[in-house]
Amino acid sequence: MIIAIDGPAAAGKGTLARRLAKHLNFAYLDSGSLYRAVALNLIISGQDENNEDGVIAASKNIEPSLLEDPRLRDEATGHLASKVASNKIVRENLLHFQQNFAANPPNGEAGAIVDGRDIGTVVCPEADLKLFVTATADERAKRRQLELEQKGIAANHENILSDIQARDKMDSERATSPLVQAEDAILLDTTNLNAEKAFQAALGLIKPANLV
Ligand code: CDP
Repeated sequence: MIIAIDGPAAAGKGTLARRLAKHLNFAYLDSGSLYRAVALNLIISGQDENNEDGVIAASKNIEPSLLEDPRLRDEATGHLASKVASNKIVRENLLHFQQNFAANPPNGEAGAIVDGRDIGTVVCPEADLKLFVTATADERAKRRQLELEQKGIAANHENILSDIQARDKMDSERATSPLVQAEDAILLDTTNLNAEKAFQAALGLIKPANLV
């Protein structure tokens, strides 16, 4: 059983996916963390997106500890992640891990929830349910600001908004696996829904699909 959740930056996909996974006893994979890990690999070794060989090498060598590194969530890491995510070979290098996770969820869980940008379109086109979670850019920037402030990081709304818009543009306009709603995905606009309401709305979509 596979549930794919795609959508633009800071739309609340992770919060929703985590809650659903807990509720359903499914495994959860945040595919964005893999692209962030590639970016963090580069940042740690003092490289950037301009050295293609370095970018590709960084996508072949993701230590599990990187996924726990607090710097993974930095805005700079997210921004560089969006740049390296346009590289076709990087995407190919990360594809097998994601597909294997979805097909064989760890710990014998009955299903997997994977969130990202291209899960319903490229990684798991056969997913049992596809959600496309979105919200206005302004609302998403407010949520990201709150998230950062809760971690004690000072955040400026305008800067976050422009970063989110820049990332949305890069993610939507890239040639390989762009951010796009799959034809068979259900749109969930959470602009006016808090986390609890978004969770309830998603559950309401899951139940008729006989996934639980
Ligand atoms: O959490 P946030 O929405 O800020 O982003 P993320 O899900 O952590 O993803 C970071 C970046 O990785 C995105 O801006 C995308 O460029 C890239 N990504 C992707 O290309 N494909 C995915 N399946 C997931 C993330």
